Amino acid sequence: MKTVTVYPAQSFQFQSSAIAPDKSISHRSAMFAMLAEGKTVIKNFLRGEDTMNSLRIVEKLGAKVEDDGKIITIESDGIMEPDAVLDCGNSGTGMRLFCGLLASADGHFVLSGDAYLNRRPMKRVTGPLRDIGAQLDGRNNGDMAPLSIRGGSLKAFDYSSRIASAQVKSAMILAALNADAPCSYREPELSRDHTERMLKGMGAGIEVDGLTTTIQPMKELLSPLDIRVPADPSSAFFFAVAAAIVPGATAVLEGVTLNPTRIEAFKALQRMGADMTYDLTDDKYEPIGNITIKHAPLKAITIEDNISWLIDELPALSIAMACAEGTSVIKNAEELRVKESDRISTVVENLRHCAIEVDEFEDGYAVTGGELMPAVVESHGDHRIAMSFIIAGLRCGMKVEDIDCINTSFPNFFELLESITKVER
Ligand code: S3P
Repeated sequence: MKTVTVYPAQSFQFQSSAIAPDKSISHRSAMFAMLAEGKTVIKNFLRGEDTMNSLRIVEKLGAKVEDDGKIITIESDGIMEPDAVLDCGNSGTGMRLFCGLLASADGHFVLSGDAYLNRRPMKRVTGPLRDIGAQLDGRNNGDMAPLSIRGGSLKAFDYSSRIASAQVKSAMILAALNADAPCSYREPELSRDHTERMLKGMGAGIEVDGLTTTIQPMKELLSPLDIRVPADPSSAFFFAVAAAIVPGATAVLEGVTLNPTRIEAFKALQRMGADMTYDLTDDKYEPIGNITIKHAPLKAITIEDNISWLIDELPALSIAMACAEGTSVIKNAEELRVKESDRISTVVENLRHCAIEVDEFEDGYAVTGGELMPAVVESHGDHRIAMSFIIAGLRCGMKVEDIDCINTSFPNFFELLESITKVER
């Protein structure tokens, strides 16, 4: 188990165009190649463990993948039955989206993952997919992987989801593309919309009206994507918090997707007092640009709306809350309990180790800003918990245990971090 010691940072000027490429868009660009005729071209694909697993799965499903180290091309002749288990590693996105993609494919497929993923709830996708005729099963009556899928024909649906989850929405949209008639999907709050944007860009019949998405079944294969994956705002956000909590610091984060469903945490940090600017530089499939953050004294905030727009950034935002004046509150965030770890417990436990006052609720927590103290904290195998507490260490020093998980989403995290502080691994 690897451990890192991070030392307090002095005021820094950080600028990078090398923030890890977006995980959500990378997964999708590999998977959607299976729906296209011709060559999918992907530049700046995230070479993290999660997305490389998706790429290998696409290959096991029969696609021809070429990778020159910079550009990945994928050509598919349709989904083939694989002769091995499809390993999603730590990735809930991988597993849930593949359920939707494979539910209608000809063949038998088994999806499995690591010990953390195989404990996470899958009924949210297997349930509605079974309701439209998919043959899916798994442990605990289809709620836990390994999952087995026998692809077959799917009925059209009009489904209202209880949770605002892009993974559930995407799985159902992928299923709908091969259903027997037009389908519609409603969600309680808009979740990230990369699937809709990318599939529409490929020519799929997808219309979004408020919280309702209607999907026409595919009559023919779609046009292949030709995409440069933007930087991941969820990864960039660690450096935004770093700049926000270190007096005199600035971070310029280049080439990040500015998709409104992804940058709510930056907006929250701005409401807390950080000085933030956004510059649009490109707009293909997604708005893309540079975000600049400058340190300023932070004040407490309450977060209770549009939770899915910042769900992945809440652990890092909690570090900013610990450095702010007053008590910040996070509510309506019960989804945090079923992420790579139970992020309510792991954030609360670790902040308490750092001498910060925290109250835990079923659906969130309250953090009273104070002086972060150096501590030894565990990642619980969760990349975002590991990186959040490493960033906390920029204020006071920190030892974080079990850091290999960072490779799932941000393989060059330490390379970038070492430009702003001393790190011992
Ligand atoms: C993701 C959706 C979110 C997010 C996850 C990536 C995606 O999960 O937390 O990191 O790529 O669709 P939910 O759909 O479960 O909210």
